[in-house]
Amino acid sequence: MIVEINNLKKSYHPGKLAVNDVSLSIDKGESLGLVGESGCGKSTLARCLLGVERIDEGSITFNGKPLTKASRKHLRDYRRNIQTVFQNPTASLNPKLKIRDSLLDPYLQFKDELQLEHFHFTSKKAFVEQLLETVELPVELGDRYPHELSGGQKQRVTIARAISIEPKLIVLDEPTASLDVLSQGAILELLASLQQTLGLSYLFISHDLAAVYQLCQRIAVMKEGELLDMFQKEDIYDSSRHAYTKELISIF
Ligand SMILES: Nc1ncnc2c1ncn2[C@@H]1O[C@H](COP(=O)(O)OP(=O)(O)OP(=O)(O)O)[C@@H](O)[C@H]1O
Ligand SMILES: [Mg+2]
Repeated sequence: MIVEINNLKKSYHPGKLAVNDVSLSIDKGESLGLVGESGCGKSTLARCLLGVERIDEGSITFNGKPLTKASRKHLRDYRRNIQTVFQNPTASLNPKLKIRDSLLDPYLQFKDELQLEHFHFTSKKAFVEQLLETVELPVELGDRYPHELSGGQKQRVTIARAISIEPKLIVLDEPTASLDVLSQGAILELLASLQQTLGLSYLFISHDLAAVYQLCQRIAVMKEGELLDMFQKEDIYDSSRHAYTKELISIF
């Protein structure tokens, strides 16, 4: 088990829970899809998991240790091991930094405690090139600024940055939503192959049930803050699915 969320509650306004008593866990190397209508609390759950949102009740444990009582060292370990890729790559990249500097940033922050298995740091130049090649981008892009890249290329850069410090889990919050259909498919394929080669776990948030079905082994369904259903994807058409899940499937 990489992370375990137990009975998590989070509200922004008194009396209204954005996340209401959600429990779920993600295994090593597993990809869990999270679907549900806009405003149902998916991103809130993700932000709680990322430790950027304070939780009201419940617990989040990483490697068996609760986050709330974590030591500084454990928190830092947590921050390194849970990375994120958001919907809008333009907003995720500093416009004033060359791609190479954005790519180096997490490594430089954590280098003293990193023991990389897949990537090798021999020089900044070689490291950046290795990252760009891993996400199938031409190495020349390292010298450009974000505005000189397409949306799909920028999203590959944010993915490269996320994997650069070999985290255990990546939270993908609608990573393909801002891209055209062809780029979406290519990014999904890249994510699937990175998951294999790097042994990553994903929490993949999406409105696109077909994409979730393609990338994930397990699917969770939320509505109005609650987790209604969670199942292995093979069981998606099982008669025991929640009525709301059936409704979501019928729209596709
Ligand atoms: N920072 C915030 N302050 C106040 N309310 C918020 C904040 N963030 C989210 N909310 C509210 O919490 C609820 C859940 O929002 P959240 O962003 O988690 O939904 P979501 O499932 O990610 O939706 P979408 O699919 O549109 O991204 C919504 O009612 C939203 O208005
Ligand atoms: Mg959201």
